[in-house]
Amino acid sequence: HRTRVAIIGAGPAGLLLAHLLDRRGIDSIVIDSRTREEIETTIRAGILEQGTVEVLAGTGASTRVLEAGHRHDGIELAFAGERHRIDFADAVGRGVWLYPQHEVLKDLIAARLAAGQDLRFGVEALAVENADGDRPRVIARDADGEPVEIEAEFVVGADGSRSVARTAVTGSQTGGYFREYPFAWFGILCEAPPSAEELIYSNSPNGFALISQRSPSVQRMYFQCDPDVDPAAYSETELWDTLQSRVPGELAEGPIFQRDVLRFRSFVAHELRRGRVALVGDAAHTVPPTGAKGMNLAVADVVLLGEAIPALLGGDDRLIDAYPETALQRIWKAQHFSWWMTSMLHRAPDASDFDDLRQLGELRSVTGSRAGRTYLAEAYTGWPLAGAD
Ligand code: DHB
Repeated sequence: HRTRVAIIGAGPAGLLLAHLLDRRGIDSIVIDSRTREEIETTIRAGILEQGTVEVLAGTGASTRVLEAGHRHDGIELAFAGERHRIDFADAVGRGVWLYPQHEVLKDLIAARLAAGQDLRFGVEALAVENADGDRPRVIARDADGEPVEIEAEFVVGADGSRSVARTAVTGSQTGGYFREYPFAWFGILCEAPPSAEELIYSNSPNGFALISQRSPSVQRMYFQCDPDVDPAAYSETELWDTLQSRVPGELAEGPIFQRDVLRFRSFVAHELRRGRVALVGDAAHTVPPTGAKGMNLAVADVVLLGEAIPALLGGDDRLIDAYPETALQRIWKAQHFSWWMTSMLHRAPDASDFDDLRQLGELRSVTGSRAGRTYLAEAYTGWPLAGAD
């Protein structure tokens, strides 16, 4: 097959990029090893920065976010038995939207198929070749094991944390800056009414908990756990006892119908581009989940490539040359923010009394000063996006 841009990965990054390129009249092929159903039903994060919503709605990628999503103008930070609100509207005049990532994916897939886009599920990329030439190639195989080769003018690796494209860009599957954390999140979905109007991020002596939402009748909650924990090992009563013990106030309980354990790591690839291959989203970087920066960061990368690739195909390589440096500035700010929220709110397994009390001092500094609240609000709602239309 031949196309102008080959995109590996039908996650938020790959699908949104295909949409932005299509608006510029540039054809692409998007492949993903997963089925459509798997992509549309996997539970991921639920918070969209204001800029992400503006890109999705403003480019027609998803207008449903404005109807079905819920705007939140703040969060609560809980510690020492009390809850403190961070008012985003007051601090920075911006907000975020609660709208689950799989809903974004449903909208993007529907829009791509309605536009007659070449979008192939069950096609697994094996390698990217000829990054330094004019016609890079994706070597893949379809669900029947038959070989598929896609030749393009540009290849984008939007293929997640186990990226195949990364090898073509950095020279190795793992080439990057890396940090692991000694804990994970235990996530649940339950049938219950919301326990608070906004999200609660809670620091407690027993560890972190996050009370999030999905709809008026379904709630998403997480608590810090050991990375090796078996999700099936807890009874529902134990899960509720753990959550209740970590959040001031009473949580509304209900049947738990989904549970999962989320890995915690920070990663930034050593290179984001080589010749005519670039990395975006989790292929380029991973952040720990605290602060919900993952998908938002992917959208920010894609907004840059949505300008840089059309320019390159038109003969102007200045934006693609600038892509790594421009993207990395935001990536490292988001890495810092995600690490900071994580370290301020979680309890390390070897934490001392000094560490616990220092954290409370930090939380009081942030919630008790306008400057502290403003920093958090600015980062959480998202720094301005370059080149968004
Ligand atoms: C959710 C996940 C996050 O990592 C976060 O910081 C906030 C909300 C969520 O899944 O709802």
